Amino acid sequence: MNLQRRIWLTGASSGIGLALAELLAAEGHRLALTARRRDPLLALASRYPGQVLVITADLTDRHAVQEAGERIEAIWGGLDWAILNAGACEYMELPAFSASLVERVMQVNVLATANCIEAALPLLRHGEQPRLVAVGSSVTYLPLPRAEAYGASKAALRYLMQSLELDLADEGIATTLVSPGFVETPMTASNDFPMPMQLTSKKAAQRILIGLERGQREIRFPGRFIFVLRLLAALPDWLRVALTRRRREAARQQETH
Ligand SMILES: NC(=O)c1ccc[n+]([C@@H]2O[C@H](COP(=O)([O-])OP(=O)(O)OC[C@H]3O[C@@H](n4cnc5c(N)ncnc54)[C@H](OP(=O)(O)O)[C@@H]3O)[C@@H](O)[C@H]2O)c1
Repeated sequence: MNLQRRIWLTGASSGIGLALAELLAAEGHRLALTARRRDPLLALASRYPGQVLVITADLTDRHAVQEAGERIEAIWGGLDWAILNAGACEYMELPAFSASLVERVMQVNVLATANCIEAALPLLRHGEQPRLVAVGSSVTYLPLPRAEAYGASKAALRYLMQSLELDLADEGIATTLVSPGFVETPMTASNDFPMPMQLTSKKAAQRILIGLERGQREIRFPGRFIFVLRLLAALPDWLRVALTRRRREAARQQETH
């Protein structure tokens, strides 16, 4: 049996978070699960009596997040892992560039995650082999059309985590950034473009858990998909932009035929 950890997992009501919650609960870890929707959290908690704390909160509400942290502290006294997975994705539809869309996506992916980091760090300081984990995205390897807001938010999160890694090293708090490719979840269900090498949420959760147990500082998958993204990103900018435009033009022509 692995070490039984005290784990705070956000975004646990669907998709990758729910699949990860299932795996972690089955391994016997103690979980504090957070999301706005309570029912999926309660359903999981009812199958693991005494093992799961259900903490509903809107993570963009800093006060609510502080209260979540205080509740965890009162019950467990500390945290071993904080897995900040909650996120949101909206695509930009030009010519109508929307600053409020940017604001909404940043609110969840960057500011809500910062709220959680603020609440989690004091608890991780009382943890066993403490680890702060954030779920970013492989979108940060390559600028993609319509991903202005989502990509920028995940790029901000990447920098935030990499910077924190340096500042937390002396305290013995490790960090992990998770960079998934396409995963089958409610977030991607309405995407109207090809999603190569898409994984199920269960498979994604398994990859994340293996990486965390190994203590990886970055967990990226699927490997071949990431390789292609990084290869494209390494092209000269004019060629990368020309290839993207040509692909979009071909897709548009296919739509009109
Ligand atoms: N699916 C992919 O292809 C993919 C690829 C790369 C990265 N990711 C990242 O993986 C993470 C999980 O995404 P997913 O695909 O599993 O999406 P999902 O099924 O839509 O799950 C998103 C989770 O975040 C929670 N959440 C969103 N806004 C929240 C808020 N304001 N307060 C509290 N909780 C909030 C949702 O819970 P409630 O709605 O109940 O609050 C839900 O549990 C995200 O960070 C996403 O950016 C996903």
